[in-house]
Amino acid sequence: MRLLICAKAVIFSMLIMLHLPLFAEQGQATYQLCSACHGAQGEGNSALNAPVLAGQFDWYLQRQLQHFAADLRADDTRDVNGKMMVPFAKQLTDPEPTKQLLNYINSFEPVSFKGSLKGDLKNGSRYYQAKCGACHGGSAQGNSAFNAPKLAGQDPQYLFLQIANYQQGIRGTHQADKYGRQMAMMANTVSDKELQDIVFFITEQQ
Ligand code: HEC
Ligand code: HEC
Repeated sequence: MRLLICAKAVIFSMLIMLHLPLFAEQGQATYQLCSACHGAQGEGNSALNAPVLAGQFDWYLQRQLQHFAADLRADDTRDVNGKMMVPFAKQLTDPEPTKQLLNYINSFEPVSFKGSLKGDLKNGSRYYQAKCGACHGGSAQGNSAFNAPKLAGQDPQYLFLQIANYQQGIRGTHQADKYGRQMAMMANTVSDKELQDIVFFITEQQ
């Protein structure tokens, strides 16, 4: 009897051991769809305007994938970069492989763009804390409670592009895009001069 329990335990743990790498491999295999644009380690690609995925919250990435797939994001014909994402997001309809994919992306090391921009850090910090920090966190680390993504460690070129998209009504206009609409309102409160220093501050955070 004891032997039987023992044998069952061995078989059970073997099954788990077999499954764990299988799940990890599944995420990695699905990521092959993404790496050409987002980089092998989710480091992004400025030449393709593809953002960094490494270090970003999985709940935020998941929401963006759902929004691309449901045409809540990149629904505007002017959104040429967003349109590139849509067919890939539409392939991720099954929740389980998507979960494995997000787990795999979660294993990537965050990247840094420190030193890549110029600006006034003191002004940037002041504007950032006044206009962005309440939602995105004091060091641009993001805040799950406010559904606000991490901005530190993101490609500054992508940050500028997204804010311009929000300001021009290219992103964050769909009726059902509650968080995007919230952000679009905030984007309209900054001037170009303030934005340069704000993005400089964000880029220096990581
Ligand atoms: C053909 C190039 C390309 C491929 C392939 C691609 N993406 Fe993207 N992705 C982009 C671009 C460009 C953007 C930026 C869109 C924008 O400017 O709004 C983006 C944006 C995203 C975003 C939003 C990030 C953010 O910070 O809001 C997520 C999440 C994402 N991609 C995940 C994926 C995943 C997962 C895959 C693979 C299943 C994938 N992408 C495949 C080009 C690509
Ligand atoms: C009221 C809260 C709030 C404030 C204040 C706010 N944001 Fe956001 N921001 C959000 C939310 C929520 C999202 C996620 C939108 C979504 O899910 O589509 C977001 C998204 C973004 C994005 C897109 C990130 C990506 O990966 O695509 C950028 C860039 C951004 N915010 C920059 C800023 C900057 C710069 C400021 C200050 C000028 C600011 N935000 C102020 C709530 C806020």
